[in-house]
Amino acid sequence: MHQHHLEVFGIEDGFLGLIQNRMRVLEWGDVSNILTLGGTILGTSNQANPQQYAIERNGQTEFADVTDRVIEHVRANHLDAIVCIGGDGTMTGAANLIQNGINCIGVPKTIDNDLEGCDQTFGFDTAVTTAAECLDKIHTTAMSHHRVMVVELMGRNAGWLTLHAGVASGADIILIPEIPYDLTKVCEVLEHRSRVGKRFSIITVSEGSKPKGGDVVIQRRVETSPDPIRLGGIANKLVDEIEAASGLEARATILGHIQRGGTPTPADRVLATMFGHHALDLLLEGAVGKLVVWKDGKLNQVDIESVAGKQRKVPADHPLVHTARAVGTSFGD
Ligand code: F6P
Repeated sequence: MHQHHLEVFGIEDGFLGLIQNRMRVLEWGDVSNILTLGGTILGTSNQANPQQYAIERNGQTEFADVTDRVIEHVRANHLDAIVCIGGDGTMTGAANLIQNGINCIGVPKTIDNDLEGCDQTFGFDTAVTTAAECLDKIHTTAMSHHRVMVVELMGRNAGWLTLHAGVASGADIILIPEIPYDLTKVCEVLEHRSRVGKRFSIITVSEGSKPKGGDVVIQRRVETSPDPIRLGGIANKLVDEIEAASGLEARATILGHIQRGGTPTPADRVLATMFGHHALDLLLEGAVGKLVVWKDGKLNQVDIESVAGKQRKVPADHPLVHTARAVGTSFGD
């Protein structure tokens, strides 16, 4: 708007707005003073994949491919391109539109930081900051009551959020999906700490963690969602198991959606602004189907189709895993 006098439409509720033709022209007044807001002024939905759209028929949920409806709405509104802001589900949806001749430019946004090809998504730093602040508060009560505090963080099948918040807050044990844990080892660490006079311990556990040879804990299924599984509950399971195996008193805290809210950190605001600017440059150059990424300390772009349907996991030999181990943190393995 400022430099190129483009007309910009805001699509409401993500792909749902494209399916239902809900979009509006954004004016200056719509986008001023929103830098400090979390979330999105346009709304969002993680249940509206045009290729697999849930429709109620005779009390039953059926899935239909409504991509044609989306294309019709894009053409009717004369949209030249769509900027798709989100994680791997969003990029999978964008890849479908690209294959159907609609230009999409992707911008990486997820607290999970699990978008393939991108070292940092925006939203991640804010979630790490919130989680670390919560862990600092848990520390106080853990120390006073001499307990094992098990704190569950989001992140789906990637441990980035738990790893970063755990290191930042000095967690004694960090459990992430990429490094399956052994309960006996976890209890050995806790009992050793107890023996040497450390009267409390903090465990950060990612919602997608699992024991060696075991499985994740599923909290619920959202049948209308393209990815119906919602993880959660492992902290409660661990508390019961730890108390039974070690006799130590333990408590669970599930941070939940608090990790997805609040004022964005300055680092996230800067990253989001740089991503938006780079996305515009790509559009003006006539780029097609590109995802803006932050890679090796600089902005770059990759093909959306090359990252769609993929998740970036923490490599077991990641430098931050080495660092955490070096300062005495256990991964329960
Ligand atoms: O992908 C972001 C995320 O917050 C995950 O970390 C979490 O597993 C999931 O979304 C929760 O989804 P919902 O808000 O639908 O419960």
